[in-house]
Amino acid sequence: MFGWFKSAQTEVTQERCKTVREDFTQPQKVVEMFTALTGIYFDQKEPAITNKLIHFCRNHTIISFEELHTRLNDEAVLLEELINYLTVNETYFFRERDQINYCAQKAALNNTEIRLLCAPGSTGEEPYSIAIALLEAGVPAHRIKIVALDINTEAIYQAKRATYSHRSLHKMDDSLKTRYFTKKDNLMHLRDEVKRLVTFEMCNIFDDQLFTLGVFDTIFSRNMLIYFDQETANKAIERMGKLAHSNQSRFFFGHADILATPSFMNEHYEHGVKFYTL
Ligand SMILES: C[S@@+](CC[C@H](N)C(=O)[O-])C[C@H]1O[C@@H](n2cnc3c(N)ncnc32)[C@H](O)[C@@H]1O
Repeated sequence: MFGWFKSAQTEVTQERCKTVREDFTQPQKVVEMFTALTGIYFDQKEPAITNKLIHFCRNHTIISFEELHTRLNDEAVLLEELINYLTVNETYFFRERDQINYCAQKAALNNTEIRLLCAPGSTGEEPYSIAIALLEAGVPAHRIKIVALDINTEAIYQAKRATYSHRSLHKMDDSLKTRYFTKKDNLMHLRDEVKRLVTFEMCNIFDDQLFTLGVFDTIFSRNMLIYFDQETANKAIERMGKLAHSNQSRFFFGHADILATPSFMNEHYEHGVKFYTL
């Protein structure tokens, strides 16, 4: 019954776009506003971003980039939807596992609390992989405190739900899958004992809410800086640096995230794993 209503609504929407003249030239103002807010850089010479914005506008009965720009300034929900639509949340369990295992082995060597930030955590696979690796290395649950942030509210929602497709787990050993997940309706449900080790926060790395999250001994920031230009990436790293518990705190980046070590960081290699300190 609602199917009819939905298709009638779509027709009305399409009719409005046809009868009212659309103007999808000049995406610059919207793109620049988005980049200033999120740090995410788009090459405006590429048609991909314009096409995505046109698609977004048509889905919201918006007839021009000018109208989109005005509404983004006024409507927080619309802005949230655009951020969710344009951010790339690709991730999976035990991605770049050497860093995760290294970090877990190190943590197992002492008896202190592990305060670890995952920025960004996307849909949860990375922070949960770290939690599993720590448990596997023998670190007791009460010593593990992981905070994961992301700007995408839909990703945070999925992370908290912690229900995954088999594809998300394709790099995981079967024994770990059996220990930490239950299978239901062809989906993998993460067990509560791991879920409770990670706190998820909706947070933009460029928002000062970042500085309320606490201080950390280990900071993972993988596959976010690649979407920023070099200057913005350095700014993000500098901000994360303020969350370091001490100058011994370790920073792990994705392979493609850092092209040149920022002048305020020291690069280290141990057991084939690269990490940074302040
Ligand atoms: C490709 S995922 C990386 C996930 C995970 N760290 C990994 O390596 O598998 C990139 C994530 O960065 C998030 N992101 C992009 N810009 C951000 C910002 N300014 N603040 C916080 N998160 C951001 C996106 O929402 C997305 O979930």
